[in-house]
Amino acid sequence: MSFQDEVKNIIDKTDIVSLVESYNITLEKQGKNYKGLCPFHNEKTPSFIVSPDKKLATCFGCHGGGNPISFVMQIENVGYKEAVEILAKKNGITLSSYSNDKDYESELNKQYYDILNLSKDFYKGYLNNTKDGQRAIKYLIDRGLSQELIDEFNIGLAPNEFDTLYKVLKESNYLELDMYDCGLIDKNNNGYHDIFVNRIMFPIFDIKNRVIGYSARIFNDEKNQPKYINSRETALYHKNEVLFNINLAKSDIMKKRRVILHEGQMDVIASYKSGLKEAICTMGTAINQNQVNVLRKMTNNIIICYDGDKAGIEASKKAINLFEQNGFIVHLVLLPDNLDPDDFSKKYGNLEYYNYFNENIIDSKEYLYRINLLNKNLNDNQVIEEVKKNIFELLSNMNSETLVNTYLNRLKDDLNLDKDSLIKDYNNYISIIKAPKYNEIYNDYDIPDYTEYEEIKPEVIKPKWNSIVELRIFVYAKNRGYAMYINEGIKDYFDALSFESQTLWVKLIDEYYNNFEKYDEGKFINILSQEECDYFTLIMEELAKDSYKLNDDDYGYNYDDMCCCIDKLQEIALQKRNEINKNKLNNSNESDSKKILTEIMNNKKRSLKLKQKNSKGRKN
Ligand code: CTP
Ligand code: MN
Repeated sequence: MSFQDEVKNIIDKTDIVSLVESYNITLEKQGKNYKGLCPFHNEKTPSFIVSPDKKLATCFGCHGGGNPISFVMQIENVGYKEAVEILAKKNGITLSSYSNDKDYESELNKQYYDILNLSKDFYKGYLNNTKDGQRAIKYLIDRGLSQELIDEFNIGLAPNEFDTLYKVLKESNYLELDMYDCGLIDKNNNGYHDIFVNRIMFPIFDIKNRVIGYSARIFNDEKNQPKYINSRETALYHKNEVLFNINLAKSDIMKKRRVILHEGQMDVIASYKSGLKEAICTMGTAINQNQVNVLRKMTNNIIICYDGDKAGIEASKKAINLFEQNGFIVHLVLLPDNLDPDDFSKKYGNLEYYNYFNENIIDSKEYLYRINLLNKNLNDNQVIEEVKKNIFELLSNMNSETLVNTYLNRLKDDLNLDKDSLIKDYNNYISIIKAPKYNEIYNDYDIPDYTEYEEIKPEVIKPKWNSIVELRIFVYAKNRGYAMYINEGIKDYFDALSFESQTLWVKLIDEYYNNFEKYDEGKFINILSQEECDYFTLIMEELAKDSYKLNDDDYGYNYDDMCCCIDKLQEIALQKRNEINKNKLNNSNESDSKKILTEIMNNKKRSLKLKQKNSKGRKN
C-alpha cells in the first residue's frame, strides 16, 4: 500500500466524533453535525463543528482544526508523522515499514507544493487564453498593470464554474484530501467544489518561491461579495507568517538594504512597477512578531507606507512601535489626500510616484509630529491643547535638546502661538511627568528589586566566522578572475574557513560561476537556502562595518590586497593545524612524535614566510 493510500485508509477508519470526544470535548448533536466549545481558543458560545460526513472538526471562529490529521497535529502539538502514528494506533492499524521509513511531512509537503503549482498554472492559463480572461485582463490593465506584470506576478483567473479546478486536479490523479488540505476545494452534499470562483487569483509565494496560497479579488464589483478572499489556514499557508512578494523582493531588500511595507498587494504591485521592488505587505492582518523576525534577518531598515487614511495612520503607529522594539531604523512615507500607493501612482504616474516616495521618506518622529497636526481644526482651543499635549509627549522622549527646540519652533508656527508661553507649557509638562515615581518614595531597604525584569534585548546572532579575512574573499570574488585565483590559493586550506563560509564559497565557485559568467548578487542569493542567505547577509553587514575599508572602487579589484587575504587564510590554516598537532603530541609514541614535530616545524616555517611577505608593504 502506498503512503498516500495508507493515510487515506487511516482517515477513512477514523470516527471523528469519538476522536474529538477522546480529548474531553463535549459535543452536542445538531442535525447531521456536532457542536462544541473550541479547544483551540477561548470561547463561551460553541463554534467548533464536527462533521462525521466530511470527517472534519473545524472551528468557525479561529479556523483551528481540520481533517483528523490536522486536528491531532494541533491538539497534540505534534508534527504530521506523529499525528499519523497516533491516529493509526487509535484505530488499531499498524503502519507498514515502507511508510515508517519515509519522512512523511516532506513527502506530503511536496505533494502540496505540486498541487498548488499546478493550480497556479491552470489559473494563469485560464486568464490568458479565454474570453473571460480577456475581461479580467482588461480590468487589470485599467488598474495600471501591464501584461508583463501580470506574468511576473503569475496572476490568474478562477473560472465562473464551481468545479473546474477540482476536475483538473482530479485528472492529474491528486487525492481530494490533498486538494482540500491545500485550501483549494471543499465538500458539500453535492460533492466537491472549488473554493475560488470567478475571481482574479494573486498567488502568494513563500520566500523560496513556492506557491502556498492565494488572495482572490472580485473584478465585476458583484454585490454582497467580499472584495478579497484569501486562502484559509493550511499546512503551508499561515496568514500570520505570510509576506506578499517576499519571493521577488528578497534580492532587492538585500541589495538596497531596506524593505518597504504596504497595506495591500495592489500597493505592492504599484511600488514594484515603479521600481520599488523591495515592497511587501501582509495579507489583511496587522504585521506581527513572526513577520518582523523574517525581515530582521534581511535588513534593519524599514519604510512603512500604509494608506493615508485614519486606519492607515493607526496601523502605522502600531507598526512603528513593533519595529523599533526590534531594533529597526524606521522611516515612513505619508501620501497626500488619503491616497494609497496604488491610487497615487494611478493618478500621477509611476515616475511621479517613485520620485514622491523617495523624496518624502521621513523618520518616525517627524511622521508622528505631522500626523498630530493632520486634519485638525486649529481654530478650536481644545483641539490646540490636545495637539500640544500629544506633541509634548513625543518631544519628551527625544534626547536631543536642539531637536526639541526645532520642533517647538515649528509647533509655535504651526499652531500660531507665542513662543515664550509655549516653552513655559512644555517645561510645566516635563516637570509633571518627571515628578518622583513611586519607587522613589520607598525607603532604601524596601525598594523592589527590578533587576530581574531587565529589558529583554533582541537576540544577538553570534558571528560564525573564524576571522574577518574569510569574509573579505567574498568581496574580491565578485570578479570572476579573482574568484578562480582565490580558489586556487585556498582550496587546500579550507580548514581556515568556518563551515558556513566553506559552504557559501563552494556554492559561489562550483554552482554560481559554473552557470553564470558575471557576478550578480541577486542571482547568487537566489541559489542559496534560507540559512545560507541569512549568513550571507550577516557577512555583508559585517563587511559594511569592516574597519579595513576596501573603498568602493577597490571592491574586488585590488590585486595586492586580495593576495594578502589568500596568504592570511593559509597562515590561519597552518596555525590551526599546528594547534591540533600540539594536542596530538601529548598522546603519541616516539616515532609519531617525530613526524608531528617535523610537521609543526614545516608549518611554522611556511607560516613565518607568509607573515614576512605580508609585512613588507602590504596591508592586513
Ligand atoms: N483585504 C483582505 N480581505 C478583504 C479586504 C482586504 O484580505 N475583504 C486585504 C487585502 O490584502 C488588501 C488589503 O487588505 O490588499 C488592504 O485592503 P484595502 O485597502 O481595502 O484594499 P486595497 O489594497 O485598496 O485593494 P483594491 O485597491 O484592490 O481595492
Ligand atoms: Mn487600493
